[in-house]
Amino acid sequence: MSHLSQIHNLSKSDVLEIFSRADKLRTMPPEERALLLQHKILANVFFEPSTRTRLSFESAAKQLGMHVLTMNESQSSRVKGESFLDTLLTLKAVGADVFVIRTKDENICSDMAEKMSLLHPGTHVINAGGGTLNHPTQGLLDVYSMLQHKPELKNSKIIICGDIKHSRVARSTTQCLAVLGIPNIHLVAPEHLLPNQSEFSNCVLSTDLDSAVSDADIIMMLRIQKERMQHTDIPNPESYQENFGLTTIRLNKAQPDAIVMHPGPMNRGVEISSDVADGKQSIIEEQVNNGLYIRMALFDFYLNP
Ligand code: CP
Repeated sequence: MSHLSQIHNLSKSDVLEIFSRADKLRTMPPEERALLLQHKILANVFFEPSTRTRLSFESAAKQLGMHVLTMNESQSSRVKGESFLDTLLTLKAVGADVFVIRTKDENICSDMAEKMSLLHPGTHVINAGGGTLNHPTQGLLDVYSMLQHKPELKNSKIIICGDIKHSRVARSTTQCLAVLGIPNIHLVAPEHLLPNQSEFSNCVLSTDLDSAVSDADIIMMLRIQKERMQHTDIPNPESYQENFGLTTIRLNKAQPDAIVMHPGPMNRGVEISSDVADGKQSIIEEQVNNGLYIRMALFDFYLNP
């Protein structure tokens, strides 16, 4: 596969190879790293807001010696009606080798990957977040981060709590865990924000965070995605915090060495209290830093096979 539109494009050995490349790139001298992909060009095509994904792709590319083209949709010819495919073909014509795409539309990335395979087989499309379904690079960096702290991940109890129904992170992270054969994943949300069990057949679904966190080894919190739900479905922040927020009292029910994760952006005081987010058990900043090396590893994986 020369594209990454979803985790299912990767085999177990691909995932392990990407993790191994991330480890090597982390310790490689910067001047050596900067020679790896000299003159290759990344086109960052973000049509939904992003801080960490867009900037870590940009930083990863630059640290490997690549050039970066950044599209701003509202100032592009998209507003004159240019199609998504014509936009990518234009970027290809000015030199792009890799397209990193974020959109509200769940199917654009796989559609573009299919079309670019036919039109320009040497190019690569990477999904940086598509609607509610896929965020494969976040799934990879989450599982990579989990393995750094819990090398025996098969024996860990993993909790993912929040707006699971609208979460592309929950989907891609649980899919990545499934690719590696990791069991014991619990998804917790208010009833109306739980997904169908059939979509998450490898997970236990629950509405009771207090029971789920008991003895947990890994707790990943997710924000409420207000932008993807009807106004009437948006929970009241105070009652949400009371029932589904990760506070120190709740964290104390987990294993003493449990780690706390969040893909960001966080809503402090809603799904996570500030003392937990900034506390000793939090690896939230490490996740962002790992994202940098996972994205370097992906460029290396696709452009230096
Ligand atoms: N985790 C994540 O996708 O964050 P951004 O929306 O800031 O890229």
